[in-house]
Amino acid sequence: MSSGGNTSSVYAGDEINAIVLDPGSYNTRIGYAGDDFPKVVVPSYYGIDKNDIAKSNAPGGKTRRVFGEDINLPRSNFETNPILKDSEIQDWDAAVDQYSHYFNKVLKLDYKEQPILITEPVWTSNQYRQQLIDTFFEKFDFPALYLAKSPTCISFQQGRPNCLVVDIGHDSVSVTPVIDGISLLKNSMKTNYAGRFLSDHIQDLLAHKFPEAKIEPRYRIKSKNPTVFPTAADYTTKPLNENITTSFDDYQKEKIWHEFKESMLEVPEKKLNNLNASQSNSIKEFYSSDANKRLFELPTGQSVELSLDRYALADTLFDPESYPFHNADLNEKYPPSNGEISLANTFDDYKPLKRARKAESNQSTPPLSQDDHNGNHTEIRGLSSLISSTLSSVDIDLRSSVAHNIIITGGVSLIPQLTERLYTELTNSNPGLKIRLHAVGNSSERFNQAWIGGSILASLGTFHQMWVSKEEYQEVGPDRILSQRFR
Ligand SMILES: Nc1ncnc2c1ncn2[C@@H]1O[C@H](COP(=O)(O)OP(=O)(O)OP(=O)(O)O)[C@@H](O)[C@H]1O
Ligand SMILES: [Mg+2]
Repeated sequence: MSSGGNTSSVYAGDEINAIVLDPGSYNTRIGYAGDDFPKVVVPSYYGIDKNDIAKSNAPGGKTRRVFGEDINLPRSNFETNPILKDSEIQDWDAAVDQYSHYFNKVLKLDYKEQPILITEPVWTSNQYRQQLIDTFFEKFDFPALYLAKSPTCISFQQGRPNCLVVDIGHDSVSVTPVIDGISLLKNSMKTNYAGRFLSDHIQDLLAHKFPEAKIEPRYRIKSKNPTVFPTAADYTTKPLNENITTSFDDYQKEKIWHEFKESMLEVPEKKLNNLNASQSNSIKEFYSSDANKRLFELPTGQSVELSLDRYALADTLFDPESYPFHNADLNEKYPPSNGEISLANTFDDYKPLKRARKAESNQSTPPLSQDDHNGNHTEIRGLSSLISSTLSSVDIDLRSSVAHNIIITGGVSLIPQLTERLYTELTNSNPGLKIRLHAVGNSSERFNQAWIGGSILASLGTFHQMWVSKEEYQEVGPDRILSQRFR
């Protein structure tokens, strides 16, 4: 495939210095193709003066958004808002502003000379993708770009062209079969039982279990002395004259749940809410023991002690159904999900060539939905069952190769013992398959894996023919580009 016109020569050879952008629900990563790590890893949030929002609606009005560390500075009337949801940009003005900030002021790109590879989840609609392309060609004037599916990037990072990518990120967990380096959209599954879900469970648990413990965000604390619950917190707060908004305060509080998630959670060996009551009791007793107790220090200096709950919180990823929230509003935020994705796109999904068939392979592929999914009742799929369902939807010829190459990635996958528990459950529920899990040992590599994969992909010698130039896009039009060039 040629990249059209005479523009292809511009990106060929060693001079390519492409930009790689991985916009995630919680973190946005930006850097140069060929580098080992992104230059910038920042929250996918921005701060804005409420008065500026009003001004931006007026003709010629301008907004001044702040990004990165600056959003943590307490200011009057400053809102903190997310830019993405479910790995898709939802606030386009803020996204353009954020990327311009990092491209121009931080990385100081001569971006007119550089193509850009942007990662995207598998569930984007063509309308969304078109908006993405239009934005990058029109607002930034990049000469060429490429949209790469995150699971494809992850498969490249691991050098496994046939695999199953399990990405446990902030807003969502996604499971995607990748064949010949191409993500199979129709077999992919996704739920929201991921990082944000855990944050909500942590917040819910602390409020329920330690209602007297004061949850103060760190920016409010002036001094503190250590205490342990139920002894009251001993601290003083800063005199804040600023008129702090709820969204700023909530975002700052959220950091507490993240800290808790990253330091306190461990995955139990087995489901805690077993069908067998006596087994369940003995597991719970084990995890309640003194050896499993840990203290978590709140910003006020007061520590809370937890044992079984540290494991129960991580168990919610595997068994969300057993853990309703105490706060009813939170239950509404997470409607039951079996992971099926309704893809708005009508283009043909990649059809892998038939592999050599083995004797048993004349079995048909089981349907995606299980028997009890009859439209009235939604089966709730935790992590292992989401992966097993995806596996069973993969063509029988490819299933064993995919089962042998399951890649576990995303920030939440760093919770200790998560892969061990997954291995046990997947092996038990898929007796005919040899399950092998692959999780990168280096945590910052795992955390940035989609970006790193994009960096590898865009710096491959053969990649120059993949870029879509602005001229080609204008000539050929979005329909053909979207269905044929970006897989
Ligand atoms: N060591 C850790 N242990 C547990 N959770 C962690 C750890 N490090 C980060 N996380 C959690 O991982 C989540 C962020 O993961 P990641 O950066 O993969 O998401 P993202 O790429 O921004 O989002 P998405 O891919 O869902 O759009 C946050 O919820 C964060 O609290
Ligand atoms: Mg991600």
